[in-house]
Amino acid sequence: MEVFHTREGMQEKILRLKDRNMTVGFVPTMGALHQGHLALIECSLKQDDATVVSIFVNPTQFNRRDDYEEYPRDLTSDLQELEDRGVRIAFTPTEKEMYPEADNRVFDFGHLDQVMEGYYRPGHFNGVAKIVSKLFDVVMPHRAYFGEKDFQQLAVIRELNRQMGYNIRIVGCPIVRESDGLAMSSRNARLTNEQRKEAALISRELFDARNNMDQLSVGEVKERVIGRLNKNPHIDVEYFEIVDEHTFKPISRWQESNAQRGCIAAWIGGVRLIDNVKFSY
Ligand code: PAF
Repeated sequence: MEVFHTREGMQEKILRLKDRNMTVGFVPTMGALHQGHLALIECSLKQDDATVVSIFVNPTQFNRRDDYEEYPRDLTSDLQELEDRGVRIAFTPTEKEMYPEADNRVFDFGHLDQVMEGYYRPGHFNGVAKIVSKLFDVVMPHRAYFGEKDFQQLAVIRELNRQMGYNIRIVGCPIVRESDGLAMSSRNARLTNEQRKEAALISRELFDARNNMDQLSVGEVKERVIGRLNKNPHIDVEYFEIVDEHTFKPISRWQESNAQRGCIAAWIGGVRLIDNVKFSY
């Protein structure tokens, strides 16, 4: 596997691939790779002539210093995992390489940046947009792959792609879940054994509410999910919203949307987990 640490080296490689008319697929990650990432990688390996995986824990998208510092990192085992999966090209820049000087750009994602993750993690999507645009500038992929666990991020990236005129095919891939339903996330590694068991309640309540939505109003579903989860002394729901998955506007009646999605963020101890489930099925 070729591992590039500089933007210049990575870009030269991409240009060589493109000279040979090869299509480039890109999977940006912050490392601590799990099955969710591997599913994105599999998708690209099947569809693209060359797959590039980046590993970079992006400081500008963390709105809490402790979250950034505690984010799991294991570059050696991540690179081994990539090698084992047949990835041939990795990009692992340093912070100085990606941010040689302060990036003061301010993106405007309108409503998308004002609800749920945008509201509770101010500046988060602006930081995501900064790094994803820098990575896109370097890798210049034909396709880029993102998981639906970060459903709002996926929408922000589609909008970034549109605003910047990149013309990259943004591919959203379904959430990969553990056998008890917990959405895979690098943050799961930070849960204690006990918290890990409790964490499965989040998706269980989402699916349970979705399966009973015919008998319940939107308000009742929200009350039920938040109420049941908050009854558990280890879980603290930050938000649970049912939104139209295209506009991200919260709905108050089922008829307001034919593409409803329930999105949640909850704390377990010091770990913040997010998940979402399609309600219209
Ligand atoms: O989803 C992630 O892991 C990150 O937000 C991303 C897209 C790699 C940007 O840092």
